[in-house]
Amino acid sequence: MWLGTQRANAAGNLEIGGCDVTRLAAEFGTPLYVVDEALIRSNCREFSAAFAARYPSVVVCYAGKAFLTLAMARIVAQEGLSIDVASLGELYTAVRAGFPRKRINLHGNNKSREELEMAVSIGIGHVIVDNFLEIEMLQAVVREQHKSMNVLVRCTPGVDPHTHKFISTGQADTKFGFNIKDGSAIEAVRRLLASDGVVFDGLHCHVGSQLLDTQAHEGAVDALVGLMAEIERRFGQSCKMLNIGGGLGVRYTEDQRPPSYDEFAEVVTSRLKSALDRAGLKYPTLAQEPGRALVGEAGTTLYTVGSIKTVPITEAPGHRTYVSVDGGMSDNPRPQLYDAVYQVIVANRATEKHDQIVSIAGKHCETDVLIWNVAAAAMKTGDILAVQTTGAYNHGMASNYNRFLRPAVVLVNDGAADLVVERETLRDLLRKERVPQRLRAGGQRRSRSLSAK
Ligand SMILES: Cc1ncc(COP(=O)(O)O)c(C=O)c1O
Repeated sequence: MWLGTQRANAAGNLEIGGCDVTRLAAEFGTPLYVVDEALIRSNCREFSAAFAARYPSVVVCYAGKAFLTLAMARIVAQEGLSIDVASLGELYTAVRAGFPRKRINLHGNNKSREELEMAVSIGIGHVIVDNFLEIEMLQAVVREQHKSMNVLVRCTPGVDPHTHKFISTGQADTKFGFNIKDGSAIEAVRRLLASDGVVFDGLHCHVGSQLLDTQAHEGAVDALVGLMAEIERRFGQSCKMLNIGGGLGVRYTEDQRPPSYDEFAEVVTSRLKSALDRAGLKYPTLAQEPGRALVGEAGTTLYTVGSIKTVPITEAPGHRTYVSVDGGMSDNPRPQLYDAVYQVIVANRATEKHDQIVSIAGKHCETDVLIWNVAAAAMKTGDILAVQTTGAYNHGMASNYNRFLRPAVVLVNDGAADLVVERETLRDLLRKERVPQRLRAGGQRRSRSLSAK
């Protein structure tokens, strides 16, 4: 499977963005996240165009949680998209990248006062309110700052997205949003309409992630239009914006076939238009929040192959070959979290047949197998292994488990390779640590007492 600008070059090596990845591995070390800028840019354009061609007013808002760095925020801003952030850190990153503030939206099921204060003081586009506590906090913050804030109400439409339970959010039993069926959503709208400074602009939902069909989105559109009609009926208030979240899937393996942007846009917009027409409602701006669909296939992780071991399989006759690489669950926790699957290319044998079945193991003190039973070219120690479709929720979810150093990120485009995140150093690991005086050799000074007297 060749994704984006991936191809085999004349030397038989994998190339991405016109860069031979074996040279990237030599220059920047491994593990290494390689990000295909041209693919991200064309995805942003094509996703937006697919909706703009079918619906009068569209906003595409990149879900920053999928992959966010200063450089990424700049690419998204240059492509004219909005961005959604889900924490103080994501908000800070977008602001420091110079992202236009009115195109930033803040999410979260338990926003802190600090997050709301920052959002209001810098004047972002929308806060997506999630619960009654947050509405009260936001009302207090806008009062204090003598400002106003536009909001969307996050609703749970009660649809089952048929994806891994950790990335299902549209069903009724979820921590996110206001339930439509039990009346919480309409009550949230009522309170907002009665409040000064917090301005109700419309509705939001996000049904789940890595969806390979459009069923859940269709159900969500129906549920939200139903709620829009009720808001109109009860309060005479129309919704300016309807945000249906993200969720469109990508290809982790060749047999996965997510709808194309055009197919997705066709289903969503025709369903929405006919539901609005039936209900006699004005067309609101349709907002989307794709994350994975814009960056997932644009990321590739490079590893160096280390130990290779063939062992007998215990539960059946046969053998399994474990190919261990120099990363694992610290740079990609998704296999452990969601049973995620991947495909690989042996970067320095990119034209060789995938005629071996191997399991790619990480090097953590866990059974952190990154990929079970994947087809690959025959490998030797020292080869460079490329794991595909690691652009979303990999760099952002990386950790220092086992005190590993988080990998660098390199942005490639048209033969240029730019470091956008440096590899962590051993110094970085200890930078925030302190040793109390009493633990130092010969140390006498008492620690500050925090015990209640
Ligand atoms: C509110 C919201 N919007 C958008 C997204 C992006 O989802 P995806 O990356 O599947 O498009 C998420 C993901 O968790 C989300 O929670």
